[in-house]
Amino acid sequence: MKKTYVIIFLISLLIAIIYTTSSPNGFVNQFSNLDGADELISEELLLSKIDTGRNIYKEKCTSCHGKELVGNKFWRTKKDIDGNNLPPPLNGTGHTWHHSPEQLFKIIKYGIKHFDPNYEGNMRGFEELSDDEIHSILEFIMSTWPEEIREQYTEKYQ
Ligand code: HEC
Repeated sequence: MKKTYVIIFLISLLIAIIYTTSSPNGFVNQFSNLDGADELISEELLLSKIDTGRNIYKEKCTSCHGKELVGNKFWRTKKDIDGNNLPPPLNGTGHTWHHSPEQLFKIIKYGIKHFDPNYEGNMRGFEELSDDEIHSILEFIMSTWPEEIREQYTEKYQ
């Protein structure tokens, strides 16, 4: 008699284990397609942000940092006529990616002056742009960086 109880107990335990381990997996599979859809949507969002950023960049930044974000080729070695720094490249060949996303945001929004009150150079802030617009410009700038740098950067800051 006791034996039967033990066997019944063991069988129910087994059923319970099978149930609890298989059903959550079933759930995951069921919803994994939705995750995929989410990824697609965020990919699309990112591309549209990059597009917006590219347009604003063209209008506001090309004159100094260049159409291809290459900056002035003498940016490391020479100064402009007033003795100020020349525009550096933003495409990953300079040191833009050594700044955190927050620093880059502030450089663009408030200018170098935000970090150095005595700054008299040419990188003024663009406070007329909304935060979203600046984030879009940043997405655009980062989209031009070599994959390796982008990966390092995301790993470090996200
Ligand atoms: C009138 C010229 C000029 C314009 C326009 C300009 N910049 Fe700059 N920018 C500079 C200069 C010069 C520097 C270097 C700062 C310094 O050392 O004086 C700089 C630096 C930067 C940096 C820091 C880069 C680094 O590697 O440290 C970022 C980011 C940047 N600019 C983004 C932008 C963006 C985005 C725009 C457009 C919204 C823009 N700039 C428009 C001249 C300009």
